[in-house]
Amino acid sequence: MTTYQKIKLSSIVQPHFFSFWNSKAPYLILNGGRGSFKSSTISIKLLVKFKKHTQQGNKVNVVVVRENAVNLRDSVYGQIVWAISKLGMIREFRYSVSPMKIVHKRTGSTFYFYGGDNPERLKSNTVGDLMALWYEEAANFKNAEVFDQTNPTFIRQKAECVDQVQVIYSYNPPKNPFDWVNKWVDEKTGDHDYFIDKSTYLDDELGFTTKQQLELIESYKRNDYDYYRWLYLGEVIGLGNNVYNMALFHEIDELPDDDYVAQLAYSIDVGHQTSATTCLCIGITGKGNVIVLDTYYYSPEGRTYKKAPSELSKDLHEFIKESASDYPNAPIIKRTIDSAEGGLRNQYYNDYGTRLHGVNKAMKKVTMVDYPQDLLAQGRVFILRKKENEIFIEQHQQYRWEDQKTGKKNHNPNDPQVVKENDHTCDAFQYFCMDNKRLLGLKK
Ligand SMILES: Nc1ncnc2c1ncn2[C@@H]1O[C@H](COP(=O)(O)OP(=O)(O)O)[C@@H](O)[C@H]1O
Ligand SMILES: [Mg+2]
Repeated sequence: MTTYQKIKLSSIVQPHFFSFWNSKAPYLILNGGRGSFKSSTISIKLLVKFKKHTQQGNKVNVVVVRENAVNLRDSVYGQIVWAISKLGMIREFRYSVSPMKIVHKRTGSTFYFYGGDNPERLKSNTVGDLMALWYEEAANFKNAEVFDQTNPTFIRQKAECVDQVQVIYSYNPPKNPFDWVNKWVDEKTGDHDYFIDKSTYLDDELGFTTKQQLELIESYKRNDYDYYRWLYLGEVIGLGNNVYNMALFHEIDELPDDDYVAQLAYSIDVGHQTSATTCLCIGITGKGNVIVLDTYYYSPEGRTYKKAPSELSKDLHEFIKESASDYPNAPIIKRTIDSAEGGLRNQYYNDYGTRLHGVNKAMKKVTMVDYPQDLLAQGRVFILRKKENEIFIEQHQQYRWEDQKTGKKNHNPNDPQVVKENDHTCDAFQYFCMDNKRLLGLKK
């Protein structure tokens, strides 16, 4: 490394990461809070090493893996392009999205990007001349077996010019202490093959974090200190018993003077047989806050006559028409429903020619409830005080995690469940947050 490069590097690599930078360990784990420079530092380190070897005319390849192939382009691919540009090397590479790779023109050295959702394909991989392997967002992988299955293949295919293939893991720790990745890192602590580091946004000695980012972080800290500890300090805070901190649902008697309902969204959870059907009318305000304006709730419990889908369809239509008429200037941006709910969706479409938007629920419950938790932690959730909304408050108050010890027999510690009783408005509120995550700025 020349002196000139050293000076430049010290202006892009935070001092916190010097020991990571110099570590000779074969396995490196970086965990910590959001915005703590893990991904950017790893990408820069990979590029600097890559550059060193390619300048000597060597061929070295790098493999980057994320749990899901769908997320590659927006994350790791973009991250490597970012690092390439930081080092002023943009023109030295050829960029391809399908197949996803970035090729160094002169040496043919390549960055490959794969989804970890297909371990078999990873295992049968034929990329040789490897320099490094990076698992980004490692907590999102199914379990540590993916690493155990994949690593040997890649480690075998080491480039001649390197001593070893460095395997790097980065992630933000999940809240749940029983999550496999939290247990895994505990197991690796003290193992000399593993370099383990924890970072937070407070490690920003170079002043990269913008004023706007700091203000957002402050709002989490002010509203929900535990959520802040988790999201930004990277602490494993546990799930607690109650899913929500009720103090964060702000009840209001009327709409605020200095804000207005800019858009309306509806969200439906449908019950079967004895369970209830609910529809929430939610206003999104000019300031980006969320107000639960009205609630439709029908429970067939204890009734001899239970409403048929055709009647529920009519009820929902009436409810939407009525509640929306109070906000004539606010367009309805979405009517969300559980995507598995075929019956009522078809019925509603046949009756009214309007499609209810199915929300994909193929994720852990902890991930689903994190959408509302995130919004709440920013102090952005309000409820209009009225009789119809009482059920919303009651159910959110009662909403709790199943006991980890006494819960269902075959429960999976990686995937804690909620007590599924009187949770319909809770589900509907989650669907709303999930289905409007972009609009609400809930990045995951
Ligand atoms: N060298 C740098 N120069 C300017 N901004 C940087 C630099 N390194 C990181 N950043 C910015 O800091 C923020 C957080 O970094 P990131 O690596 O994404 O954190 P993490 O992966 O820990 O969540 C990003 O917005 C990134 O663009
Ligand atoms: Mg990151």
